[in-house]
Amino acid sequence: MTGAKAALVEELVARGLVAREATWLVDEFFIAADPDFTSAVMVAAERRLAGEPLQYIIGHWPFRHCDLDVDARVLIPRPETEELVDIALRELALGRRSAPLVADLGTGSGAIIVSLLCELEERGVQATGIAVDISDDALSVARRNARKHHLANVSFVQSSWWREVDINVRGRFDLVTANPPYVANDEVSCLEPELSFEPSTALFADDALGTSGFAAVAEIITSTGPWLSSMGVLIVEHGYRHGAAARDLARASGFASVTTATDMAGHERFLVAKEWS
Ligand SMILES: C[S@@+](CC[C@H](N)C(=O)[O-])C[C@H]1O[C@@H](n2cnc3c(N)ncnc32)[C@H](O)[C@@H]1O
Repeated sequence: MTGAKAALVEELVARGLVAREATWLVDEFFIAADPDFTSAVMVAAERRLAGEPLQYIIGHWPFRHCDLDVDARVLIPRPETEELVDIALRELALGRRSAPLVADLGTGSGAIIVSLLCELEERGVQATGIAVDISDDALSVARRNARKHHLANVSFVQSSWWREVDINVRGRFDLVTANPPYVANDEVSCLEPELSFEPSTALFADDALGTSGFAAVAEIITSTGPWLSSMGVLIVEHGYRHGAAARDLARASGFASVTTATDMAGHERFLVAKEWS
C-alpha cells in the first residue's frame, strides 16, 4: 500500500472504522490519478459510520464465482444462500438433465439464478432460467447482474410468486429455488441496525400456520408442485425454526420425498422437496 493510502486508512480508523473495512474502502475508491480520491473515500466512510452496509457503499459483492452488483433495492446475498446453490447443483446432477429449466422465486440481486446458470455453463450444461420477483427495482438489479455475467438464457418476470408466470411453462421446471423473506414482523426490534438499510419486502413475512414469519415459505411450498416436471425439485431457504413446519407442509402438499439440509452453522435451513404428485 502506498504512503497516501496507508495514511488515509489510519485516518479512517481514527474516525472509528475497523481497519479491515477502512482498507477495503480505500482500495475500492483509490484511483491514482484522481485528486478527488480522498473526498470520495471520506464520503464512503461517513456512510459506513452512519451504519450503511459496506456492500451498498462499494456497490458490489462476491457470491460464489460471481461478483454481483448490489444496492439498496436488493437484499445483500448471504453466505448460507451460497450453500443453497451447492444443493441445487447436486440435485440437478442427480437428475442428469442435459438442458434443465430452472426458476428462481424472489430473485433479488439474481444471486441464485446467476450463479447457477454460470456454474452450470462452466460444467457444460446449457440451462435456461426464469427469475421472478415482486419488485421491479430488484429485477433491474438482477438483469444488470445477468448482463454483467453474459447470460442470455434467463428471463425476468415481475410477479407475486407464480401468479404472473406463463401458464405454458407449468409442469416443466426441473428445479425451483427460492430464498423468500422469512423474518417475522415482530422480530424487527431485535435485529441488527444494518438490516434497516435492506428492503423490508426482502426480509419480513407474515406468520402462517401458527409459525412466525412462515407465510412466504408456506405459499411457495403449497403452490410450486404443479410447476415442477416429473423429476423436478423444489429447494427453499427458510428460517432456522421453520424446518419441521416446512417438512410437514411439503408432505401435505403432495411431495413424497422431503428432507431438510442444515447450513454451516448447523441450523435447519433448506427444504428439499421432490416427487410431487
Ligand atoms: C430474502 S430476499 C432473497 C433475494 C435473493 N434471492 C438472495 O437470495 O439473495 C427475498 C426476495 O423475495 C422478493 N419477494 C418478496 N415477496 C415476494 C412475492 N410475493 N413474490 C415474489 N417475490 C417476492 C423480495 O422482493 C426479495 O427480492
